[in-house]
Amino acid sequence: MDLINGQASNRQAILGDCFLLRWEKKTSQYETCTSFESHLNKVKIVHTESNVLNGLNFSSNSDQFVSCVYGQVYFVIVDLRPDSPAYFKSKWLKLSSCQISQIFIPAFYAFGYFSSTNSILHFTQNSNIDIYGLNIEDKNLNLSIPFSNYLQSEQDLAKPGLEKIHQLLSEHKINEVYRKIVSYPNGLSHLSSFDKKVLVTGGAGFIGSHVAILLTQKYPTYQIVVLDKLEECANMKNLSEIKNLSNFYFIKGDICNFEELKKIFSQFKFEYVVHFAAQTHVDISLVFPLKFSKTNVLGTHYLLECCRLHGIQKFVHVSTDEVYGTTDKVANINQPLEPTNPYACSKLAAENIIKAYQKCYKLPIVITRGNNAYGPHQYVEKVIPKFITRLLKNKKCCIYENCDAKEKYIEVVRGRLLNDERYRIDSSKLIQLGWKPRVDFDDGLIRTIEWYRENQNYWKNGDQVIDLFCEKITPDLKN
Ligand SMILES: NC(=O)c1ccc[n+]([C@@H]2O[C@H](COP(=O)([O-])OP(=O)(O)OC[C@H]3O[C@@H](n4cnc5c(N)ncnc54)[C@H](O)[C@@H]3O)[C@@H](O)[C@H]2O)c1
Repeated sequence: MDLINGQASNRQAILGDCFLLRWEKKTSQYETCTSFESHLNKVKIVHTESNVLNGLNFSSNSDQFVSCVYGQVYFVIVDLRPDSPAYFKSKWLKLSSCQISQIFIPAFYAFGYFSSTNSILHFTQNSNIDIYGLNIEDKNLNLSIPFSNYLQSEQDLAKPGLEKIHQLLSEHKINEVYRKIVSYPNGLSHLSSFDKKVLVTGGAGFIGSHVAILLTQKYPTYQIVVLDKLEECANMKNLSEIKNLSNFYFIKGDICNFEELKKIFSQFKFEYVVHFAAQTHVDISLVFPLKFSKTNVLGTHYLLECCRLHGIQKFVHVSTDEVYGTTDKVANINQPLEPTNPYACSKLAAENIIKAYQKCYKLPIVITRGNNAYGPHQYVEKVIPKFITRLLKNKKCCIYENCDAKEKYIEVVRGRLLNDERYRIDSSKLIQLGWKPRVDFDDGLIRTIEWYRENQNYWKNGDQVIDLFCEKITPDLKN
């Protein structure tokens, strides 16, 4: 059985007794072709084979909201709650684009669907919500509506294939319907009952994904919304641990699209914003400096403006120690800021705009200036994953000539004057907040190497990217 929307748990066996045999054969027909965002929610175009029961979605710990906006779809819903009076009973209903109808499927129900067409369009919403006061844990839910109320029109019945569906349904004694028809002209956001909503920009990237995972798992009553443009350095696999959690939501979007940002803010009404999204590679900033200013400066400005317009409780801006420039002294916040490359300059420019929003609009903003980070999920263009990946393939690594380390696996090449040599930051403020490293560097490096060894095909075109980078920086160095 294909449980598309969650983990099987012991309910799989319960379900299997009832329907598994037939459905198991057919689940391979389920294929998601593509998905895109609408103003309502995530929309999927699902290719199906007419009259075949497509998959069985199990809403393990999350509610489902489904709407058919094209074609006709026959939903089958199975109540799996052991104590429910409707336990084991299956219900079905027709969703049709003629009278756009929608269905709410509470957590711990399962559903599958037949379709009279070969492709349908539907959207789903996962959230922990009580729709209009409906308590989904209430065993006496009054959602049951007699099947006869929703019989198709004669015209529909005349369409080829429907008879077969009816026959299948009656064979399985699928004769009742759990449903709740609701219409939400402004989308679904107002239905949510999360304590707080947190926007994590750039959350499909390296550091942002770790933070999104931590927040989603640690704060189940908070909704964590990741907004990411999915640039090459991003990877949806970074979020696979949390993608099925009901308090997690992903939006593919660009912080440089102000109109889109405004819509997202008015839909979700965030309390907190943690801003990681950025162009982050120093070497690339030397080649495409404008791209860095656009994302890191203008994109940040758009975000701040949305926060000003909508109001927030806290904005955490993730800046970098590179704003200090190269330094032998240990830098603290009183140190002069002397960035030397377009990446670092764009991060400082964003900080300056932030100052205006702090002073003029009293926006509650915290700036962090972290040192280089390392660990799983980092794109292979960056030095530690690049070295690990090349060494795993018995290829040499390259560093600039002004670096000290020269080992037998390292090829030293002409240095670029614009690259900073060293950043040293004073971490006492962080320590005062109670932070201390839980993993020492040697251990962390070993764990990181293991992770890259086990995830060698994690990045699309990863090999080319690593080689490209070495060759682009050092045209004379191959392997
Ligand atoms: N990695 C480090 O060592 C380090 C050190 C200090 C500070 N930082 C800062 O931390 C933040 C995250 O760094 P990282 O290493 O995780 O970066 P990363 O490159 O892995 O991730 C950046 C993410 O931002 C997304 N993004 C880029 N442009 C976007 C746009 N216009 N709209 C929406 N999303 C967009 C990318 O798709 C990606 O997922 C950055 O702001 C960076 O300046 C990183």
